[in-house]
Amino acid sequence: MINKKMTDSINEQINKEIYSGYLYLSMAAYSASIGLNGVANWFRVQLQEEMAHAQKFYDYVIQQGGRVALKAIDEPPKDFKDARDLFQKTLEHEQMVTKRINNLVTLAKEENDHATETMLQWFVTEQVEEEANPTEILQKLDLIGKDGNGFLMIDSQLAARVFVPLQSGA
Ligand code: FEO
Repeated sequence: MINKKMTDSINEQINKEIYSGYLYLSMAAYSASIGLNGVANWFRVQLQEEMAHAQKFYDYVIQQGGRVALKAIDEPPKDFKDARDLFQKTLEHEQMVTKRINNLVTLAKEENDHATETMLQWFVTEQVEEEANPTEILQKLDLIGKDGNGFLMIDSQLAARVFVPLQSGA
C-alpha cells in the first residue's frame, strides 16, 4: 500500500514520462522533415522507452492498491534548429527528469516508504543511461563538426537503434 502523497507524485511522474515520449515523437517528426531518418528512428525508440517507463510506474501504482489518475499532456515544441539542438535539448530534458526521480526518492524516504524507494532505484540507474546517451551523441557531433560524411555515418548508426522491452520485474 502506498499513501496518497506518494500516489499523487507517481501519477504526476506518469504524466511527465508520457510527455517525454511526446517530446521525442515531436523530435522524430522534425528529424524526418529534414531527411535525418536515422535520428528520427532514434527518437521513435526513445518514445517507446518513455512509454515503458510510464507503464512501469502505472503498474506499480496498481500493484500497490493505488488509483492511477491520468492528466492532460502538455504540447511539446515542434521546431528545432538542427540535430545538435535536438540532442542538447534531450540532455537538458533528461537532467530535469533525473531531478524529478531524485525528488521522488527523497519523498519515499520522508514517508518511510521502503517499497517505493526500492522500486525507484531502477529509475535512478536508468537515468544514468538516459543522460549518457545524448551526451555521447553530442560528443560525436562535436568531433565531426561540419563533416557531412561523418554526419551521415552517425545518422546510419542511429538508424540501427532498436527498442529493447523492459525485463519483467526489472
Ligand atoms: Fe523516462 Fe527519459 O526518462
